[in-house]
Amino acid sequence: MRWLACFLFVACALSPSHVVAQADSSLRSGGDARNKLIGTAVNTTVLRTDPGYRDFLAREFSSVTPENVMKWQVVEPQRGKPDYTAADQLVQFAQANNQAVRGHTLVWHKQLPAWLAAGGFSSSDLADLLHAHIGDEVSHFAGEIYAWDVVNEPFNDDGSWRNSIWYQAMGSDYVAMALQWAHEADPSAKLYLNDYSTEGIGAKSDAMYALAADLLARGVPLDGVGFQAHLGLQYGFPDSLTANLQRFADLGLDVAITEADVRMPLPADSDKLARQADYFGRLLASCLAVDRCVSFTVWGFDDSHSWVPGVFQGQGAATLLDQAFERKPAYDALRDALAASPNARQSDPADGVINHTK
Ligand code: XIL
Repeated sequence: MRWLACFLFVACALSPSHVVAQADSSLRSGGDARNKLIGTAVNTTVLRTDPGYRDFLAREFSSVTPENVMKWQVVEPQRGKPDYTAADQLVQFAQANNQAVRGHTLVWHKQLPAWLAAGGFSSSDLADLLHAHIGDEVSHFAGEIYAWDVVNEPFNDDGSWRNSIWYQAMGSDYVAMALQWAHEADPSAKLYLNDYSTEGIGAKSDAMYALAADLLARGVPLDGVGFQAHLGLQYGFPDSLTANLQRFADLGLDVAITEADVRMPLPADSDKLARQADYFGRLLASCLAVDRCVSFTVWGFDDSHSWVPGVFQGQGAATLLDQAFERKPAYDALRDALAASPNARQSDPADGVINHTK
């Protein structure tokens, strides 16, 4: 064993890039070579308790998104007493493992603190509370978060505005105000809108497109649009995804796949797992095909810790690893999609490498 270690050491010293390329076939290294961040949502409770989870997370991903711990409900459970402890731990883990952090999410209609959800606030109270929340949270993480999902899920499925407390209080301009407040708190962070069922071209993505174009025309600080990509086998694949990403990119925006998972009616079987792999591979291939798609993020990487079974009855098996933490065909499909896409570093060394971490 010792001579083998010595041999590898010498080989590394002689030809570092060659040896590294052979030894490291992780998703993150495949993404690095193509200037794409490969991310995952992180469950910080599991992060604290499960070394296998930590190892896989550090090895395979170049970006992390807190699954819950940056949401308002978690960061300000008591009014006026912000608590970023859990989120800070994730940021520390990310920094130690050279990972970018995607902030999620500042303005949403869900997971509000109980004191806020209880209601009884005037419109101007709500605007002031939102301003203070965004200012406090974004400045707490200033310089540590490369991109924020500032506004999450602003639209209904038919493309009309969601009648959230923010829309009720401030009208559609709450989006522009939130972006402006976030920009003031951290001018270096990339600011995104994020939604689901906007992957294909249709009423909902048209509404997002019109909003993004309008904000840009008005000079509002918007940098990108996130497409959650919570897919289900029973709903089919959004075939216009690449064209849709490209039309947003053509506005001058970054785009990102932010929450990919592919659920299926349980139990899983080999046919469903193969179709799931195909969906995952095509999602990543779309991002790889669009220059301004900067990141591909999955919403958790193992079936034991996926949000799906708790929310969609009778469905699950939506991630890359099964309950036993074994790789599913979906994991291989992501590796294959990366391998099939030109290596940016080799084809054009001048492209350089994205460095979103500080
Ligand atoms: C989900 C989390 O995964 C769950 O743990 C939590 O109970 C509810 O929220 N769209 C989003 C995410 O933008 O924040 C949601 O995350 C999943 C849907």
